[in-house]
Amino acid sequence: MELRLLAQDVPLAVHGAPDYAELRRLGLRPAEVLDFSSNINAYGPSPAVGEAIARTPLGRYPDDEALALRMTLAEYLGVPPQCILAANGSSELIWLTSLAFLRSSDRVLVLGPTFAEYERMAALRNVCLRIHRAEERVGFILLPPEIRKILDSWQPHLVFLCNPNNPTGTVLGSSLITDWSFSYPHTIFIVDESYLAFAPDLGSAVEIKRNNILVLRSMTKDHALAGLRLGYAVGAEELIAALVRVRPPWSVNALAQAAGIAALRDREHLRRSLDLLAAAKSELMAALTELGVQVLPSAAPFFLVRVGNGAAVRQSLLHKGILVRDCASFGLPQYIRICTRRPEENARLVAALGEVRHAG
Ligand SMILES: Cc1ncc(COP(=O)(O)O)c(C=O)c1O
Repeated sequence: MELRLLAQDVPLAVHGAPDYAELRRLGLRPAEVLDFSSNINAYGPSPAVGEAIARTPLGRYPDDEALALRMTLAEYLGVPPQCILAANGSSELIWLTSLAFLRSSDRVLVLGPTFAEYERMAALRNVCLRIHRAEERVGFILLPPEIRKILDSWQPHLVFLCNPNNPTGTVLGSSLITDWSFSYPHTIFIVDESYLAFAPDLGSAVEIKRNNILVLRSMTKDHALAGLRLGYAVGAEELIAALVRVRPPWSVNALAQAAGIAALRDREHLRRSLDLLAAAKSELMAALTELGVQVLPSAAPFFLVRVGNGAAVRQSLLHKGILVRDCASFGLPQYIRICTRRPEENARLVAALGEVRHAG
């Protein structure tokens, strides 16, 4: 009898971050590769994180409800702990939203080009997916009248929007999201704010406090906890309660919970490192522009660079121990995405890209 493998139609994940098997094939050790492909604060986590981890007992189950972490988040966000759910990265939350809020054939709108997990989870749930893509000719900026037209005519059950958006770094104002949440009260808006901390002038949808808005946040990027995995959702109590029902137990391990609390308490480290990163980003963008490549503006530390053949440039740079994100999987094969690192590391990237372009 033939096996029934239902996941056949779910696209495989393509993301930034090192592909460890590829590095092994190329004879590169992960520690030797400068990773510009992951959107992570290159100044690393607060030193308090390492100390908190060292004090955490490993032989016990973690608090399944991550209460201490949620209380710390509650204080920091000004919302009650029952409006917060901690998770194993914001990726887990994307999958939980599909389990909690969607039935097959529900209409789901994704504002793109964007992070691939929204589309993967839509394929898994067999929903009716529509991807509205911002166009290159307008710098990948989403045009509100076009989105409103789709919301009016198509009435999606759920909308995914990423703010600031990965990979374009474009933003949507929170007044716009507020308007939509009032105009379309039967639509759930999932606002992925994984990169919000990097854009200090951008308002958060957490402030809107509507029962059809769920905000997703990541602590793997601004707090640089990617190896530990940590994220959280903020929203109305009934939305959070629905997510709690479908989540796997103990998904936030004890180290991640302790690390999250320590990271949140060290606000000075976060502020200082994000300031340094912002300054490094301006310098890097200027240096790349001087090389003659087109660099697109971005509210995030990462940005798109038009290089012609993104896959070829990625490959040539990788041979020099530098990893960038080829954007073909976003439908943007002419682009690479670069996330700013520390100044001395950025200088190595600029030099290597100069050589690669020269050779090409
Ligand atoms: C827009 C966006 N959302 C969510 C995630 C997932 O982040 P994590 O699961 O590490 O919190 C990423 C990771 O690249 C992302 O770019």
